Amino acid sequence: MNSNIQQLVRPGILKLKPYSSARGESGGAEGIYMDANENPFGENNRYPDPYQKVLKQKISEIKNIPAENIFIGNGSDEIIDHIYRIFCNPTKDKAMIFNPTFGMYQVAADLNEVEIIDIPLTDDFQINIEEARKYFDDEHLKIIVLCTPNNPTGNDIRQQDIDFILNNFRGITVIDEAYIDFSRQESYLSKLAQYPNLVIFQTLSKAWGLAGARVGMAYAGEEIIALLNKVKYPYNVSVLNQKAALEALNKENEFEERKVIILSEKEKVRQELEKFPIVTKIYPSDANFFLVKFSDADKVFTELFRQGVIVRNQTTKIKNSLRITIGTPEENRKLLQILQKL
Ligand SMILES: Cc1ncc(COP(=O)(O)O)c(C=O)c1O
Repeated sequence: MNSNIQQLVRPGILKLKPYSSARGESGGAEGIYMDANENPFGENNRYPDPYQKVLKQKISEIKNIPAENIFIGNGSDEIIDHIYRIFCNPTKDKAMIFNPTFGMYQVAADLNEVEIIDIPLTDDFQINIEEARKYFDDEHLKIIVLCTPNNPTGNDIRQQDIDFILNNFRGITVIDEAYIDFSRQESYLSKLAQYPNLVIFQTLSKAWGLAGARVGMAYAGEEIIALLNKVKYPYNVSVLNQKAALEALNKENEFEERKVIILSEKEKVRQELEKFPIVTKIYPSDANFFLVKFSDADKVFTELFRQGVIVRNQTTKIKNSLRITIGTPEENRKLLQILQKL
């Protein structure tokens, strides 16, 4: 459902005069730089391109999305914070999330004093549309954040439910596709032009293997991209991070090869886990991890930890469950060897 983006934006953000950086003003011109009080000596002495033009061009080619529709953040963690800040008046406006899901949606909302409407996922970890739609007319509900494949449950969210939200909610819909490269589900990038209120997050931290470099992307219409550029820190993605990202993106073969290995390992791990009596359920996964239920998850967690295998304990969110990320073949073998003896 399309609505006027400007009407959704906080008045203070509409009025905001953003900081104008030295490198932003010179527009990437080559020359002798005497404009930014940098040190003329050294290797990383220059500020980065504030708009990451070369990196965006590369992402644009890979994703087949115009560079004008791309925003790059210091991980997607940065971008969720911006989205709340742009659209939600603190202590007044609200966002909807579907728990259990990625914890940063709540934390970033708390930081921005945005009230969260939490609609629990159904038993099969899908969106309860009947519950969610009851709030669509609340003028203070500005943002819906959904995650597909969802973390920590691992499953894809049903496309018909996402489409329902896109077609019926007048606010901003964020689809976090951090794990989309591992999924068989098609990315919503192909529908970007259809929905001006849609923001899609992706990241280089997962399938691209670059969590250390902190590079996340938001894809959206030009109006939303302009707002993100307005509120971001001037040099939010470092020279080193941009370089690491470009290097990784230039090795698409490696990306594909590693993805094949991870997905084939995932299947092997699943088959082995199924044999263990202490495993009571392996939830369906479209990502690079499994949510696994054990007869005594805390005990399994502690024993794995003691033997040097660190998984994520999810018992406070989903009873007796651990989230296990697929590792290298050797790492997975070690995990399975320990579990077998428990
Ligand atoms: C769903 C989801 N979104 C985003 C992130 C974080 O991405 P980034 O490393 O780009 O900040 C994670 C990390 O675990 C995640 O699970």
